[in-house]
Amino acid sequence: MAPPRPPKLESYRSEQVAQAYDQRWAGRGGERRDRRKARALERALRSLERRSGKAARSLLDVPCGTGRFAGLLLDRGLDYTGADLSLEMLSMARAKAPAARLLSADAARLPFDDASFDVVICVRFLHLVRDPALRTGFLRELRRVARLGVVAGYHHSRTLRGASRRLRHKVGLRERPPANPSPARIRADFAAAGFGELDWITVHFAPLLSDKVLVAARA
Ligand SMILES: C[S@@+](CC[C@H](N)C(=O)[O-])C[C@H]1O[C@@H](n2cnc3c(N)ncnc32)[C@H](O)[C@@H]1O
Repeated sequence: MAPPRPPKLESYRSEQVAQAYDQRWAGRGGERRDRRKARALERALRSLERRSGKAARSLLDVPCGTGRFAGLLLDRGLDYTGADLSLEMLSMARAKAPAARLLSADAARLPFDDASFDVVICVRFLHLVRDPALRTGFLRELRRVARLGVVAGYHHSRTLRGASRRLRHKVGLRERPPANPSPARIRADFAAAGFGELDWITVHFAPLLSDKVLVAARA
């Protein structure tokens, strides 16, 4: 039996949560984080293009949320499709990118044929899925609809903060073990989902200070 969906993932089906989420990327701090992620995304797309020897023309962004990357990817000339489970998040994406093709869909069962898109991106999603089997299930479905590959964001454990949390847990100063998966566990997720070569693209210029990574994986 499939494990239950993480409650945090369901919480985005609320107008207040959608609005609060979108506000995270407003202001100077939010815009700076957006630009950093956009640069990493561009590096990840180029990695897949280089490894496959083909240019990406079509892209599925799932979950697309409030359309954080829709404008950027449309401007890159990509045939863009955004999918998300939450109608509230999608309606904010629609306001931001009226030209984008957007639809409501479950990332676990995408309504597309095999190899429908050159690239599939999945940002700020898998870090909310703590169960490795569930993560692998999502990755397998993303891979199914991708021709060249998948770019998936993770929050990993190999940072200074991660090391401090592990130590505090070991000596009894922290109750719960830290939840972020190790790089080895992340590679194991991709292997279990049937992916080939991977590129590990750190989002921050000082990788030990940030747990964010984009993994570009050949389908
Ligand atoms: C943290 S947001 C990330 C959105 C976007 N990728 C970004 O970077 O801003 C997580 C999104 O996952 C969506 N979501 C949750 N479960 C989903 C599922 N099973 N299939 C598709 N989208 C889902 C939520 O509605 C929410 O918009």
